[in-house]
Amino acid sequence: MLEKKKIIKKVMINPNRVPSEKAQHYLDLDAEYVNPVLDRYTNIVAVKGRGSYIYDINDDAYLDLGSGIAVNSLGHCHPAVVSAIQEQASQLIHTSVTTHHTRYIELAEKLAQISPGNLDSVFLSNSGSEAVEGAVKLARYITGRPAIINFRGSFHGRTFMSVALTTSKLYFRERLEPLPGPIYTAPFPYTYRSIFRNDPAACAKDSLHQLRLLLHQVVHPSQVAAMIIEPIQGEGGYVIPPPGYFAELREIASSHGIILIVDEVQSGFCRTGKMFAIEHEKIVPDIMVVAKGIAGGMPLSAFIAAKELTAKWAPARHGSTFGGNPVACAAALATIRVMQEEKLDKRAEKLGSKILDRLRKFAQGRQYIGEVRGRGLMIGIEFNRPDGEPSRPITKHVMQNCLENKLLVLNCGEHGHVIRLMPPLTISDAEAEKACEILEKCMDIKEGEVIHEQHSK
Ligand SMILES: Cc1ncc(COP(=O)(O)O)c(C=O)c1O
Repeated sequence: MLEKKKIIKKVMINPNRVPSEKAQHYLDLDAEYVNPVLDRYTNIVAVKGRGSYIYDINDDAYLDLGSGIAVNSLGHCHPAVVSAIQEQASQLIHTSVTTHHTRYIELAEKLAQISPGNLDSVFLSNSGSEAVEGAVKLARYITGRPAIINFRGSFHGRTFMSVALTTSKLYFRERLEPLPGPIYTAPFPYTYRSIFRNDPAACAKDSLHQLRLLLHQVVHPSQVAAMIIEPIQGEGGYVIPPPGYFAELREIASSHGIILIVDEVQSGFCRTGKMFAIEHEKIVPDIMVVAKGIAGGMPLSAFIAAKELTAKWAPARHGSTFGGNPVACAAALATIRVMQEEKLDKRAEKLGSKILDRLRKFAQGRQYIGEVRGRGLMIGIEFNRPDGEPSRPITKHVMQNCLENKLLVLNCGEHGHVIRLMPPLTISDAEAEKACEILEKCMDIKEGEVIHEQHSK
């Protein structure tokens, strides 16, 4: 029997009032017919989204800083995306691999143009997890090697290989063994929670040292097909590696003929102030995995590698019935066009650093706010108990209060102790100002207001 406390794993936040009759009707049907494994952050029953707002069944509007988990980068129902979907749906909805189709080819060309370095060969899939699977298959096939190295705290998805590569929480992977392997886990340079809290360079050095030891003591490099890593950990807590870490990682991978896969599923598409977060590190991975923000909310993902690599993969070794659906591709082309025309990378950089500065000032003198960090509009606020350990109750308290004030924010981190802000990149200055005001009001916690809990380490 699973223990009850293990079933309740997420910080569930709800508007602190009884749902309306209309909402309750759907919540009852949900309880009756939806597989309970599908967890939701709130009991909002959504029916509409416009720009930065999501509307519930009673037409109450919530300022949405969750963006459907970093997906709605242009906000909800951006007119350019809606019309691209409508236009495409009237022409061709599906063909799969029975034919070529124009939208797939146009999107592949566009992705090749905007991807770093020589990444110019595109395979389209439906979800982040599926693209991760494809990337790993390619790496294994090309190298003929079995093992994969992942990094502690990572999140790569929920399918069997992608969950085996996920170490952000035991909760996602326990009771599923045997998981695919061989997979070897190296430390991720999470400076704030390391013993090198005030020395990022030492944290990076130590993580790289541990990785070299892994390749020396545990698995021979000649057996390693790939390393897979997020440029900024998402689910793991919005953790940014110290400067220089990626350059050395690139060197280690290259020196052993190991494919470097970068998972940009959460960090990609202008969110961090560049089209892809790895561009901040000035390295080029061998394979890049993208999803979420790519298509204005339509299900689409991709893995992108250099032609020299993919040319060695024989036709039909990989495939997908729905991957690269024409309607999703049309939505992606419109989304990327808007991102480029409106220079949303620059917008994310500018607004992100303004919000970051503001929240860092707010955090000063408040011991329970451990760290405010971020890049562009990917911002994390980490909360501490009085003893400096991660605090999930404070996070829950803040999220709950925000929701009471019609602001939707989500959390992440191994203890659910980090609030992550991932607003639409199109959020207006006035909306951002309003969001910060609410957030600050809700983060202004008086002594004794939150009861701390013990959590397992
Ligand atoms: C970095 C990263 N990789 C992979 C995934 C899995 O994507 P999906 O849920 O679309 O399968 C996620 C999802 O949150 C993610 O954040």
